[in-house]
Amino acid sequence: MQHDAKKLFAAMQRKYRAGIREAEQRGIIPYASDQGRWLESPFDGNSWWTGGFWPGLMWQFYAAGRDPVFREEARRTEALLTAEFRVFERLNHDVGFMYLLSCGADAKLTGDKQAEVDTLHAASLLMGRWNPAGYIRAWNHPSQAGYAIIDCMMNLSLLYHASRVTGDPRFAHVARQHADTTLRCFVREDGSVRHIVEFDPETGEMLREHGGQGWAEGSSWSRGQAWGLYGFTLAHRHGGEARDLAAAEKIAAHFMAHIRPDGLVDCDFCQPKSPERLDNIAGAIAASGFLSLAEATGKGVYREAAEKLVDGMAAHCFDETERYRGVLTRCTASYHDDAAGVHTNIVYGDYFLAEALAKLNGTDPGLWE
Ligand code: GLY
Repeated sequence: MQHDAKKLFAAMQRKYRAGIREAEQRGIIPYASDQGRWLESPFDGNSWWTGGFWPGLMWQFYAAGRDPVFREEARRTEALLTAEFRVFERLNHDVGFMYLLSCGADAKLTGDKQAEVDTLHAASLLMGRWNPAGYIRAWNHPSQAGYAIIDCMMNLSLLYHASRVTGDPRFAHVARQHADTTLRCFVREDGSVRHIVEFDPETGEMLREHGGQGWAEGSSWSRGQAWGLYGFTLAHRHGGEARDLAAAEKIAAHFMAHIRPDGLVDCDFCQPKSPERLDNIAGAIAASGFLSLAEATGKGVYREAAEKLVDGMAAHCFDETERYRGVLTRCTASYHDDAAGVHTNIVYGDYFLAEALAKLNGTDPGLWE
């Protein structure tokens, strides 16, 4: 690798340490940054699916040096997230992202009992979204009762965790069945994955796919590819099933074929050449996923892919100026929806970059495991 992972991680840690006070004084969970300020989530307040990444970053920094400043900031925002349990109706299947990286990380790194209870509470909410017709329901709009999305592969880690902690296999059974549905209905022949699949909520029959956050229906949204690659790698880690690892490798091959020569990643692998639209969040997620896949398979090619991505981000999109509070630039939330952020710094891009760097440095606490 051309860049020094330790120096990059330390630079992130320094920049975030300097930005904590602003977030604390404003009482917010930052979602993105621009013009030297943190920005809040554009949708659904603290119930928005991204709320766990800020505390997740704090726990990554805490794990690397045990500086209590990061623990306390993680806990400040953990309290804001657990307050959302009572709002309930705005929470969705992304409770995995939200609570595994906040309460789950706290329980893992400090042994805090209430944090573990809150993590199990979140797992129970996710179980409540299981439709026995065969899938975990993604979102809440009445017209979306049959929708499941590829991102949910990451949320399954919360269910595996709950089975381990409670000794009750129900959570893992649901995760297994949802992973099998995903394998059957989302993974295409060429190794790309669909973003949204709609099922008949009564019978579980697959009705159609929807385009979602990528360029078009039938295209290959890069972040969705990264969720699939990392999600199946994690499912294999939790359950040990060879078919999950095979799926991860198939998606990985498709992803590797689309990493740009400069190490950056387009928002959609089928998008038109112009305008340029990058999504480094996809690159950061994939980098961390590739490192776990390298560990699971012992194959150097996945580590090389991760290093190419990290080098690309470090060379072209690592901001150490005052423009952004965070570091990773040219992140795009959704191909067609600029309101959620386009070519800017978004905190979950930083989370996965920090996680990938922590894996390279040997400090990653394994928050999905
Ligand atoms: N999980 C939603 C997204 O990746 O934007």
